[in-house]
Amino acid sequence: MRIAVIGTGYVGLVSGACFSEFGTETTCVDLDQTKIERLKKGEIPIYEPGLEDLVAKNAKAGRLNFTTEIASAVAGASAVFIAVGTPSRRGDGHADLSYVYAAAKDIARNLTGYTVIVTKSTVPVGTAREIERIVRAERPDADFDVCSNPEFLREGAAITDFMRPDRVVIGCESDRAREVMRQLYRPLYLIETPIVFTTLEASELIKYAANAFLATKITFINEIADLCEKVGADVHDVARGIGLDGRIGRKFLHAGPGYGGSCFPKDTIALVRTAEEHNSPVRIVAAVVEINDKRKRQMAERIIDAGGGDLTGKTVGILGVTFKPNTDDMRDAPSLDIIPALLKAGARVKAYDPVGMHEAEKLLPGVEWVEDAYKAVENADVAAILTEWNEFRALQLPRVAEIMNRPVLVDLRNVYNLADMAQAGFEYHSIGRPAVLPDARLATSDGKIVELKARA
Ligand code: UDX
Repeated sequence: MRIAVIGTGYVGLVSGACFSEFGTETTCVDLDQTKIERLKKGEIPIYEPGLEDLVAKNAKAGRLNFTTEIASAVAGASAVFIAVGTPSRRGDGHADLSYVYAAAKDIARNLTGYTVIVTKSTVPVGTAREIERIVRAERPDADFDVCSNPEFLREGAAITDFMRPDRVVIGCESDRAREVMRQLYRPLYLIETPIVFTTLEASELIKYAANAFLATKITFINEIADLCEKVGADVHDVARGIGLDGRIGRKFLHAGPGYGGSCFPKDTIALVRTAEEHNSPVRIVAAVVEINDKRKRQMAERIIDAGGGDLTGKTVGILGVTFKPNTDDMRDAPSLDIIPALLKAGARVKAYDPVGMHEAEKLLPGVEWVEDAYKAVENADVAAILTEWNEFRALQLPRVAEIMNRPVLVDLRNVYNLADMAQAGFEYHSIGRPAVLPDARLATSDGKIVELKARA
């Protein structure tokens, strides 16, 4: 069996590499000549742990190929995956499907024999049917079916997520297509992965509902964290206390600066729009979108307050700028709202990120980029952790305190525990926990003093 994957972005490249690892001959197609040339040389355009080795291994074995020519890739393929971008359309927040539909036309022109056309990109309800119409109009003679097979992988853990998923969702309405999809995912049957076969519409909606649910879960704990700060509770205890209820679950209850990345922000807005269009509003998701947007800006206020309210002539040291660790992805990263607000408040901003600086440089003018965490906090009046990279979990705290102008740390990812920060002599502000004051006492954001001892 041979397949083609159109689009070599995150989802396309990881899916292509993983299907080839499953033993299927896979051709990845992209219009971008330079990208394909680089991929042929084994250069991976994104930072994703394990991907370079996986691509090299399967390319060497002849199972994974790269080309700009869609015709040869599609002709004779049993399945063609559409994994092109679906960015938010400017203005209305709807998913922009122009790349998807263009790919569908290109595929149609090159079909030979029975082919399953599969949407892997996140696409709104109704897209698979529209693709069916487009292909049928272009090639009334073609023998094909359309399937929806959304991808749930997370950046930074993409390969494990693809190879050992919680479930696979396949919208598929013909036995022939189901058989092709079963063949492709055969290795997952061996590890007893649940495969959810359903209709095209349900499959498309599952993807949006899953992401909206997770975004809601994060936003819920973020608001509970704000309340914790007021009343002197610790959000870690609250998250654990509720998460141990199997109906709630412990994952995705980590309070922080608001979700970012390539999926949650875009998919939540797109779901709100789709729901409005069908006159069936998802008010809870609309609220999540609004709360999360505001939250990123509120995070800048916290850093400004920790710096004394006016940052003119002051230096802020930023640790981490990507939307989460183990990626160089800057899409909708909270840093993109926070850092410009700090600059506007008059601060000099020094920043360091283990892999994201190359991307970030283009998006954050006015920042001084430095080569390690200590250089970022040296002579700073406030330091702020924006991304929980492992190397920020193990900072030499006495050294940090010594080289800063004032040892003030705003930790938007709750990397440190309060007692350690008190002991190291920091003023420490985190999310959903009382602030550690310079005299090692704790204060709630309502001004009450809570003794550290009582919390040990
Ligand atoms: C997400 C979904 O997890 C994945 O299933 C989907 O296919 C694509 O979108 P990804 O964007 O790679 O994956 O990252 P994820 O690890 O889910 O984190 C998304 C954002 O939520 C990050 O900004 C992260 O910092 C934030 N987050 C996550 C929290 O603030 N708290 C949490 O508890 C979990």
